[in-house]
Amino acid sequence: MRVTCIVGARPNFMKVAPILAAMRPLDAIEPRLVHTGQHYDERMSTLFFRELGLPQPDAYLGVGSGSHAVQTARVMELFDADLDQHPADVVLVVGDVNSTIACALVAAKRGVGVAHVEAGLRSRDRQMPEEINRVLTDQISDWLFTSERSALDNLVAEGIDPARVHFVGNVMIDTLVTHRAAAARRPVLADLGCTPKGYAIITLHRPSNVDTPEAAANTVRAVEAVAARLPTIIPFHPRTSGKLQQFGLLDRVTSLPGVRVVEPQGYLDFLCLMDNAALVFTDSGGIQEETTALGVPCLTFRDSTERPITVTEGTNVLLGTDAASVPDAVEEALKGRRGARVPEYWDGKAAERIVAVLSRASS
Ligand code: UD1
Repeated sequence: MRVTCIVGARPNFMKVAPILAAMRPLDAIEPRLVHTGQHYDERMSTLFFRELGLPQPDAYLGVGSGSHAVQTARVMELFDADLDQHPADVVLVVGDVNSTIACALVAAKRGVGVAHVEAGLRSRDRQMPEEINRVLTDQISDWLFTSERSALDNLVAEGIDPARVHFVGNVMIDTLVTHRAAAARRPVLADLGCTPKGYAIITLHRPSNVDTPEAAANTVRAVEAVAARLPTIIPFHPRTSGKLQQFGLLDRVTSLPGVRVVEPQGYLDFLCLMDNAALVFTDSGGIQEETTALGVPCLTFRDSTERPITVTEGTNVLLGTDAASVPDAVEEALKGRRGARVPEYWDGKAAERIVAVLSRASS
């Protein structure tokens, strides 16, 4: 079985790494890696390949940035041509980024099987580009691999045959389990002048939090509230720094006492920073899961989450987007949460389960 695995944007790299590693020893599966180039910077892409031991991609499509339509269309055109040259039996996509839906759509229209890893997550917020990508990718997938049990209900409600759905656990946590010890040895805490459990990390990049002057100003008020309580490290996504600069807000953040604004971090340094943080404040999808796996308090600055298990079982609190609620929420989160646990199958073996399902289908 020829399986073409797709990566495009930063959160894809840690999801595909364990899947490729699990496929490599098997005779029944011939993997190929395609990088669409949705993310292309050293610090958004190349560094992750090195740290995660990902092989050089077999093809690099180099699509770069653009509007959603342009980016998605470029991926489709170039991936279609790649499949002409390198036919596949299955195209495996992960997560919810534009590269995910673009490659799934190309494969499905060609009659190539589609495997979607991290299927069935729903925020029920169609303003989020990722929600559109999730719903559409799931509709055209043949294998739907889920990371939490609630995903099956979402898929069945959308008319998807449960026989196609496989609960396998969380591949991103496979990568976390593999690299946690190496991350702990990184000197990043000392480099940034942080003491274990003595600081907060903030990551914010959702369009809804940074793309308009009003939303960006609200986000900056939230940052100020966190920083008023704890020394704070902020690795800015290029989208966030670009927008804050455009709205004249960047200096307000960088000049806050106790705040260190840094470049986007590599995987190992960021894992080390999360593992030792007193608190993580974020609008990311994946970080809600990683903090739950690490047992670190997380405040999610969004109105919805597609990862409800991080709230019901883990350390995540869905805060909403009212900056005025941040001071109390920070105090509460710093007390820690009793009874939080690591969800079922977030055990470092999700990729093995995925590959076992695909191997059975190939024989
Ligand atoms: C994308 C994903 C989002 C994910 C995020 C993680 C979609 C719809 N969104 O959002 O789900 O959480 O990645 O990082 O696919 N840029 C650079 N260098 C890069 C990449 C991007 O400078 O290597 C800048 C460009 O100005 C670009 C902007 O960041 O226009 C946004 O990049 P894009 O890939 O369009 O979306 P993200 O916000 O990164």
